[in-house]
Amino acid sequence: MISTEETIKIVPIKKSRLDDVDFENLPFGRVFSDHMFEMDYIDGQWTNMTVHPYKNLSLSPASSVLHYGQAIFEGMKAYKNSDDEIFLFRARDNANRMNSSARRLCMPEIPKELFLEALLSLVKIDSKWVPDIAGFSLYIRPFMIATDSYIGVKASETYKFLIFTCPVGAYYAEPLKVKIEQFYSRAAEGGIGRTKAAGNYAASLFPAMMAKKQGYHQLIWTDAKEHKYIEESGTMNVMFVVDNILYTPTTSGTILPGITRDSVLTIAKDWGMEVQESSIHVEELVTALKEGRVQEAFGTGTAATIARISTIGYNDKDYELPPFSENDFSIRVAERLEDIKRGKANDRFGWICKIDPDSNISINCLN
Ligand code: COI
Repeated sequence: MISTEETIKIVPIKKSRLDDVDFENLPFGRVFSDHMFEMDYIDGQWTNMTVHPYKNLSLSPASSVLHYGQAIFEGMKAYKNSDDEIFLFRARDNANRMNSSARRLCMPEIPKELFLEALLSLVKIDSKWVPDIAGFSLYIRPFMIATDSYIGVKASETYKFLIFTCPVGAYYAEPLKVKIEQFYSRAAEGGIGRTKAAGNYAASLFPAMMAKKQGYHQLIWTDAKEHKYIEESGTMNVMFVVDNILYTPTTSGTILPGITRDSVLTIAKDWGMEVQESSIHVEELVTALKEGRVQEAFGTGTAATIARISTIGYNDKDYELPPFSENDFSIRVAERLEDIKRGKANDRFGWICKIDPDSNISINCLN
């Protein structure tokens, strides 16, 4: 284990911006907490670990990230309950996924203990920024960029790893109207679809903009080869309840192995629900929509947690899903997740770790 005092230098802000924040009217991702974490990868090792006030970066215009896109990130959240206790949800899984993205993009891995120590130092110093209101949380954005000042195409030898945080509310304000995409694709076999690489999001912007022009909030992505199989929805994994069975596409090479996705599947199985992770054929889904057998459709992701889908468009026709009821699986699982994340429900899967702002060790985060 890496000791925080030994390795991470703390430079606290002179005057907090906390009093300027309206916590009940938080736009997603636009309000940033006082501090950020930063470290550099130089000569084959991570160094200069510092928590310092949130500020702009200074980069060479030739930095390889700006030209060839070696950039990866994670999304995670810290939660506070009414007893002022702060929890992180499945942080170790984010550390593992970050390293899996790093390997695919020829970027250096981050020792898990270091990733977690960095995270803990930052959340502790900004613990007052973690909202304690239901539905609100502190969104945490760890990311890594390539910093070689060189415009030849090759993997960079230097990198920066940074983490900043923002108090957030809901990502989507309303149930989603989505369209099954039949031309563009988010990711292809052999590509980087299963990583959290910035480029995947860049590739999604134009098709999503076209869908918006047609009156949809987002897309349901299909496979790049034939557009026959369902992959993801917007920036989320996608799930359907059909004939009381929970269906979601297998996380092949083109689909992000979502941590919320895994949590929802785990809870569904624990509740005795039948779960099918398999290829979902677009035509079969559309047939089920026509026959009124699709009971629920929703996206899962860290930012949105569970985002209900109200309408699915395909071949110029919109299929409306049934009205929501409090007994719906997606509503019950969203509530259970919220309760686990705030330490209110039994954490039987060992997903949360409590952060003690006054102690250097939050031991269960490192186990
Ligand atoms: C997340 O759910 O954390 C995401 O990565 C989605 C996002 C791009 C806001």
